This record gives sequence, C-alpha cells and structure tokens, in this order.
Amino acid sequence: MVELPEDLAGHFATMVGLVTTRSSAGENVMAAEWTYLVSYEPMQVAVVIGPRRATHAAIVETGEFGVSLAADDQNALASFAGGVSRRETAKLTADAFSTRPGEVIGAPLVEGAVAQMECRLVGRLDVGDHTIFVGEVVAGRADGARVPLLLYRGYRRPGEKVPRGGKLVVALTPEGGTRVRADAFWYADERAGQRVEFEATGAGVAGNSVGAATTDRRGWAEWSFDAEALPSVVVTARCNGASAKATGARLQPAR
Ligand SMILES: Cc1cc2nc3c(=O)[nH]c(=O)nc-3n(C[C@H](O)[C@H](O)[C@H](O)COP(=O)(O)O)c2cc1C
Repeated sequence: MVELPEDLAGHFATMVGLVTTRSSAGENVMAAEWTYLVSYEPMQVAVVIGPRRATHAAIVETGEFGVSLAADDQNALASFAGGVSRRETAKLTADAFSTRPGEVIGAPLVEGAVAQMECRLVGRLDVGDHTIFVGEVVAGRADGARVPLLLYRGYRRPGEKVPRGGKLVVALTPEGGTRVRADAFWYADERAGQRVEFEATGAGVAGNSVGAATTDRRGWAEWSFDAEALPSVVVTARCNGASAKATGARLQPAR
C-alpha cells in the first residue's frame, strides 16, 4: 500500500449522532460522528461503533439503539458523551441531558436534537477497527427549527450556501459506430432554457462540426455528431460566456 498522508481521515465533514441504549448495564449515550442515513425506504441509519465501547455491547445485547442528531448548542453534550465510557460514568444522570423514553424501543432519546430516531438492528458488518450497525427507523421526530452540529476540524454550524456561479461541464459518450454524444450541464440559478453552443474538432469529425441545443429544466443539453477517430476529438461547449471542453482521448478502454 502507498503510505497515506497523516490526517487523511480528518478531511471528512460529519454530523454528530448521540447514540443511546438501554441494556443490562443501564441507560447510556455516546457520541458517534459516523452516523449516516443509508436507506430511504425502509428508512435505515448506520452507526459505526468501536468494539470496546459500552454502546457496542449494549446494541449487540438489545438489538436496538436510539440516534439523536446533535444540534449546534449540544457541543458540550457531544464531547461529554464521547469523552467517557458508561463503564466509568453513568452519563445520563447528568441534568445537562434532557431525555424522553422511546415510543417503540427501550432506549431513551435526547431532547433538543435536530432529529430523533428509534432504530431496530437489521444488519451488522465488522470492518477494520469498527462495527457498522444498521438500524431500521421504527419511530422518529424532527425539529426543523434546530441547526445541526457539524464536525470538521472542530465543531461548526452550517455556513453560507455555496453559490452556483454559472459553471459549465461537458462530457463525450460514444453511441455506437461513429456517433458521439456531447452532454453539457449548465449549473446556475437559472438552469432551464439556456442556449449551449457546441463545436467538435479533431481528425475525422464529419459534416457540420458545430451545433446548439437548449438546456432542459435541470440544466442539461445534448448534441450528437459523427467522428471517425474519437481519441482525437475535442468538443468545446459555450453557454452565457462560460466554456468547457471534453476530450475523446480521456475515454479509456474498459479494464
Ligand atoms: C464528537 C465525537 C464523535 C465520536 N464519534 C465516534 C464514532 O463515530 N464511533 C465510535 O466508535 N466512537 C466515537 N467517538 C468516541 C466515543 O463516543 C467514546 O469512546 C465514548 O466514550 C464511548 O462511550 P461508551 O463506552 O459509553 O459507549 C466519538 C467521540 C466524540 C467526542
């Protein structure tokens, strides 16, 4: 294996799940930044838990867990829940946590969270130094007024929206024989009904090597042309002063 850069893992941005359990060891909460939605229908959530966590044993024992997605003012709770194990400290005795009982599962849910989900274990996968537990969401609530706590080099709140900025991307796809399709994507606030001009150059580009198409409501426009030698073809697309290129030589044969 090639040596990995130090702190490669530190480039992920995550949310913080407060994972709750109620087992023979009592009630517990731990912080899990590796908390993900993994299926819409049925709704399933995965939490990734180290085998030495008390939470790990509790999920294996009970086959259920709660997930409360931490809100931006729950940073101290996240660090507390993630800073000590239930083996040493009964964390949920702290007044700082306000909880409610699960409606379906035995574990409590943490109040003040962005969303609360009650999960029944439906899958388990041991990976490297952690276990992925997949839970089906059997009950849940959300509070759209709360702001999620994000983890990226420290705790953060979601910042400003990234502007779309009028960007153009184009790609080439062989359609069989000499036919080639160019797909252009116009990314802007106003995506529909924009005129995209295409130009194909290179050896063996047949006939009329320019064309135009109008973007659909998602910002896509396509144009097809014939080329004898795709590797030598370059297509330039232009839209509202932006331009983009696609290069046939980048189409590598399948491995
Ligand atoms: C913000 C934060 C996120 C964490 N994310 C995870 C995680 O995704 N998976 C994990 O196994 N441990 C994670 N930890 C560490 C556990 O929360 C920590 O080991 C905790 O003490 C385990 O508690 P328990 O033994 O009571 O289950 C995280 C800790 C913090 C502070």
